[in-house]
Amino acid sequence: MWGKIITIVSLKDMKYKNMKNKFTNKTNPVLKFPWRSPLQIIDAIKPYIEGKVVCDLGCACGDILYAMKDVTKEIVGVEFDIRFKEQINSIGADRDFILWGDLFKMGVPKADVYFLWISPDVQYNKRIIDMIQTNKLIIDVTSRLELFKDFKNLTLMDVIEYEYDETNCYGYVKGFEPTGKRIVRIYKKI
Ligand SMILES: C[S@@+](CC[C@H](N)C(=O)[O-])C[C@H]1O[C@@H](n2cnc3c(N)ncnc32)[C@H](O)[C@@H]1O
Repeated sequence: MWGKIITIVSLKDMKYKNMKNKFTNKTNPVLKFPWRSPLQIIDAIKPYIEGKVVCDLGCACGDILYAMKDVTKEIVGVEFDIRFKEQINSIGADRDFILWGDLFKMGVPKADVYFLWISPDVQYNKRIIDMIQTNKLIIDVTSRLELFKDFKNLTLMDVIEYEYDETNCYGYVKGFEPTGKRIVRIYKKI
């Protein structure tokens, strides 16, 4: 069923393909792949974030938000692991857009679009999605896991397959390749 709506974005169409040239300063990205999403995801989801207020729920060091700041109207992130704050401060990165705390206590910030890769636990994700207002877009970054497929309060809008290449910013983690393809799903809360 999902396979019918699929957009394919290849590296040749991407702004973020020349990682070596693009990210040479100390502020972006703070984390290496795969501790964050591939930065090429910004190109893949561009039609959905352009001119919008985007919130990354569980944003770690905020690398993905930082990379989309020129495309969006506004960015805001929520993160509760203070070790990321220390990492950001230690290199002097500019991440004022991050709200530090547990989103279950703070609530979900106002936004048009929510970027979500927070946990592999389906029920954890369900609790978060229940907190988001209707008609908001939710970007499921968890690729092949299809965590949200049985949620009755979501409508699937698009399935995007995109290529990534993080060869120049790769921290070895078993099972995660520095190059490849991923799936991102766009849902609307109903
Ligand atoms: C897999 S990382 C995703 C990082 C980023 N969104 C990306 O795509 O590159 C998930 C993050 O969610 C954070 N997180 C999990 N539960 C949270 C909660 N209840 N409140 C705030 N942050 C949370 C974790 O600390 C972790 O940094």
